[in-house]
Amino acid sequence: MTQNVLVVDFGAQYAQLIARRVREAHVYSEIVPHTITADEVRAKAPAAIILSGGPKSVYEVPAPTLDPAIYELGIPVLGICYGAQLMAQQLGGDVANTGVGEYGRTTLTRRGTSVLMHEWPTSVTCWMSHGDAIASAPAGFVVTGSTPEAPVAVMEDVARRLHAVQFHPEVVHTEHGQELLANFLHHVADIPPTWTNTSIIEDQVALIRAQVGDEKVLCALSGGVDSAVAAALVTKAVGHQLTCVFVDTGLMRKNEGDQIEETFTRQFGVELIHVKAQDRFFDALAGVTDPEAKRKIIGELFIREFETVARDLGKGGEGPRFLVQGTLYPDVIESGSGHAANIKSHHNVGGLPEDLSFDLVEPLRSLFKDEVRHVGEELGLPAEIVWRQPFPGPGLGVRIVGEVTRERAEILRNADYVVVDEIKKAGLYRELWQSFAVLPAVRTVGVMGDGRTYAYPIIIRAVTSDDAMTADWARLPYDVIESIANRLIREVDGVNRVALDVTSKPPGTIEWE
Ligand code: XMP
Repeated sequence: MTQNVLVVDFGAQYAQLIARRVREAHVYSEIVPHTITADEVRAKAPAAIILSGGPKSVYEVPAPTLDPAIYELGIPVLGICYGAQLMAQQLGGDVANTGVGEYGRTTLTRRGTSVLMHEWPTSVTCWMSHGDAIASAPAGFVVTGSTPEAPVAVMEDVARRLHAVQFHPEVVHTEHGQELLANFLHHVADIPPTWTNTSIIEDQVALIRAQVGDEKVLCALSGGVDSAVAAALVTKAVGHQLTCVFVDTGLMRKNEGDQIEETFTRQFGVELIHVKAQDRFFDALAGVTDPEAKRKIIGELFIREFETVARDLGKGGEGPRFLVQGTLYPDVIESGSGHAANIKSHHNVGGLPEDLSFDLVEPLRSLFKDEVRHVGEELGLPAEIVWRQPFPGPGLGVRIVGEVTRERAEILRNADYVVVDEIKKAGLYRELWQSFAVLPAVRTVGVMGDGRTYAYPIIIRAVTSDDAMTADWARLPYDVIESIANRLIREVDGVNRVALDVTSKPPGTIEWE
């Protein structure tokens, strides 16, 4: 049975980061809202609780608070930043608005022995972000660390297993921060570091088997990481009951269909239906230049193709009852509910028709993206799939400005291959959020050899980002840009010029449509 740590969210970005750091210490963690009651906590029986930081002051009205009965459950608690102040205030200490906050790096001085900072140097750099400060610790607590503006930067009640730190151990700027979290988890709460890729896979395989029994399962593969890892997990659990569907829209990356066939059919031995629907997509897209209209056509046609396969499989009454979805933990947290209400479309371009009803299998719904990649590696998926950059559902369709034709898709596919290949050779692929080629709807004059050309330019788009909400254009080295440009002109027919997009988001978007 996996032991669980609850990370109580007080409304900032920190809760997700803390949850991830706990998992890096090989302990499973789950984010819960601060409105959780002591009874609800007891029902979840966590092995420890971490109170996250938050943007508010404990003196604000209303300030987010915590059911004080939670401290009485005998479960070890670590308060961080706002969570530390709240713990101090709720247990009888004092929190003062000193008027002098600390933001950024500061020096933490350890005092005496500490469970959290076992065998640390007496002073380390830590990262702070606070206006208020704990002025006096509650009875029973020993102050084991301070900074220039936070007299109680660390307080510990070893007997009750209640600990609190004013700084942020979860951020990389705090020296030994991860070690502090690990000390709390392994030595205060006595949780063994047993949550690993192997244990995730074993747990999920057991859960999938219990959920689907001997029913049939359907999975749409998009070429992306999430659907591939979800399918690989289901394969391991109930391989012979699974049918995968890959709809080739004609707008996929070079060799994508072959790679999926190679992996799932030959390596994993799964039944794969490879729908070669390119002609139908290009026919439907002929003459259409409006970006929204193109998206709609691609989305609707994808659903129709998928639906046809599902209905064919269901003829005779023995069709699949379950559908695999690559829903990730951030989607679950953001939807705010315990369960994603609607089927997230495989391509994020439209929903499935109502009469095609499936029960969902979502083996990744407790995992963050980086964890999904590691599980994928352990399951034996090729690195090329597991470490792939995000790719939009409508595929190359949102990177071709103007009409999408077979010829133009082919130019872009070849150009995309060159851009990605050079970025990989330069060792930049994993650090960039996305890097790809764009085909605009203009042609320009050029000279090649003895003749004039009238051909398309290719635009290189490479961005850094954490979540695609904002992005910055990547400062690619000139020599990398040069080798991409040379190869694009040399190897891709129909291209005679190369440009670089230096727009961040906002004001630009990542894709060109
Ligand atoms: P934009 O271009 O809006 O893109 O800055 C933000 C991120 O979303 C991806 N994207 C899509 N992903 N279906 C998807 O699954 C789509 O229709 C779609 N449109 C854009 C884009 O690649 C980028 O990562």
